[in-house]
Amino acid sequence: MAGRALLSSHNSLRAITTFSSVCRPTNRLAPYRFRRLRRSFLPAPPAISTATCCRNNPRTDGESENPSKAEPFVLTTPLYYVNAPPHMGSAYTTIAADAIARFQRLLGKNVIFITGTDEHGEKIATAAEANGRNPKEHCDAVSDAYKMLWKELDVAYDKFIRTTDPRHEGIVEEFYLRVFSNGDIYRADYEGLYCINCEEYKDEKELLENNCCPMHLKPCALRKEDNYFFALSKYQKLLEEHLMNNSNFVKPTFRLNEVQGWIKSGLKDFSISRSSVEWGIPVPNDEKQTIYVWFDALLGYVSALLDEDAHPSLEKAVDAGWPASLHLIGKDILRFHAVYWPAMLMSAGINPPKMVFGHGFLTKDGLKMGKTLGNTLEPKDLVDRFGSDAVRYFFLREVEFGNDGDFSEDRFININNAHLANTIGNLLNRTLGLLKKNCQSTLAFDSDSAAEGNMFKDTVEKLVKKAKDYYENLSLSSACESVLEIGNTGNLYIDERAPWSLFKQGGLSYETAAKDLVLILEAMRIIAVALSPVAPSLCLRIYSQLGFSKDQFEATTWADTKWGGLKVGSVMAEPKPVFARIETEKEGGVVAKAGGVQQTSKARGINRGQGLAQAA
Ligand code: MSP
Repeated sequence: MAGRALLSSHNSLRAITTFSSVCRPTNRLAPYRFRRLRRSFLPAPPAISTATCCRNNPRTDGESENPSKAEPFVLTTPLYYVNAPPHMGSAYTTIAADAIARFQRLLGKNVIFITGTDEHGEKIATAAEANGRNPKEHCDAVSDAYKMLWKELDVAYDKFIRTTDPRHEGIVEEFYLRVFSNGDIYRADYEGLYCINCEEYKDEKELLENNCCPMHLKPCALRKEDNYFFALSKYQKLLEEHLMNNSNFVKPTFRLNEVQGWIKSGLKDFSISRSSVEWGIPVPNDEKQTIYVWFDALLGYVSALLDEDAHPSLEKAVDAGWPASLHLIGKDILRFHAVYWPAMLMSAGINPPKMVFGHGFLTKDGLKMGKTLGNTLEPKDLVDRFGSDAVRYFFLREVEFGNDGDFSEDRFININNAHLANTIGNLLNRTLGLLKKNCQSTLAFDSDSAAEGNMFKDTVEKLVKKAKDYYENLSLSSACESVLEIGNTGNLYIDERAPWSLFKQGGLSYETAAKDLVLILEAMRIIAVALSPVAPSLCLRIYSQLGFSKDQFEATTWADTKWGGLKVGSVMAEPKPVFARIETEKEGGVVAKAGGVQQTSKARGINRGQGLAQAA
């Protein structure tokens, strides 16, 4: 059988002392040979037995040792491979992470939102070569493309880690030595089928015909190498216990079952070095090998925590906020995060992360959207055409977080038009129009007094409470739905009450109508706070229409979703649509339409809901 692993378990692995010249490819990247790290033979790690590091440490259950000491909320996206520029699949995790980070900031948490790029390994070196660039130039360019996209998508990260950062390399070296001195690294030879796109040896039984990787649909290559191995099998029992004692460690729950299944079926040691790959961090005790890209990249989550001017040490990085509160990842990299990573950390005497959430895939025609299959959707193109709010809202609202979701442009347009342009935008616009016409754009009542004896306020309060619970459970789509429901309730209310007729009747009816407008506008204010994690630019525009400044918007907290923010005498801004309706045209792409005025979207950014369209 081709590609069968020579040996599979730690105990049966055959240690070797010589290298086979047959299995060492020629050094095609020699001119760009990776800078050797300064050998800094670090002191041995504190003697922490693997049995005690996680069992006896109370912080592994996700609770704070000292509740009075505010722990940061550390949230990470995967560190993206820089083999190609970002696509919508990569943007998806980051948008979701940004929404969660923004929500946690609204709760007053000290959020450390980490993202970054994974820049070592064969896949990156090959991509750089194909682009005629040296790996460093290539990584700089693609890493910048990620940063630019995050800006376009309103992603407000706190730390951006690149795995080629020398400070990170120092952390990896220190970590490797800790694991080594704990007796968990040994040398052996290995033969197996390798998927370069996954950067992973595969079990033959998980492959398709012709040894094709089921994810990338490309044949795996037979590799034979002598490598250093991490003794994962030693951690079988500890991992089982960790999962049993920390039911929130893997989310959603159906993914926890998957992880439990992997562990139960028996953990195999895995190789953590490559003798054939130049573009990587050298193995501390063997310069002829580089550290396996996953063993390197996972540590980016820790090194990202280092303060800019702190001396880079594992201890300092850990003290700055570890363990991570939440790793957000796609389901394809769950095994690395929920099995390999906690075991590696246990070996080094460091606590595992508190939670790993594995979301589903964005698919096109049922296949995972990805760089390898080339069936990607350009996030920049979507942002240029529809604006960041539409992109963020659509993917977070449409795809149940955790499950797969297929993209359709028609659906994208329909959802954004129905929810953001109509339910929210139009409600705000027509209410402000009525207020301008009848009350000189000025509130005649406090929102509190306007709501006295009115069930509308109770309904809004219930919905906003639901939204909070959903955000807390990472049910982002349901959180959007609850906020949108406030808009639906507002539309029903205004249609039933018909304040435009009440104003005409004058007297008490006039007063009732003026109160009704305050109720709707207060609901809009609450929507602006509660939806701000998902659609921050749109919500700023709503807040500005309600007479608040940008600074006031940026200072909001979740407490501002409490009813009673709008006060008598407040003057609202000139009504302007906050989200222009998107309309398709027979030819020539997409047309933005608001209040019956159509505009072509040829000019960049025309459909960003920046008040280009006229008020109804
Ligand atoms: N470099 C590793 C991660 C190392 S983390 C220490 C990697 N990079 S990746 O660029 O290939 O993928 C990054 C993330 O993007 C993964 O979580 C992956 O699931 C996600 N996505 C890539 N394509 C995707 C979709 N089509 N849909 C949703 N997410 C997808 O893996």
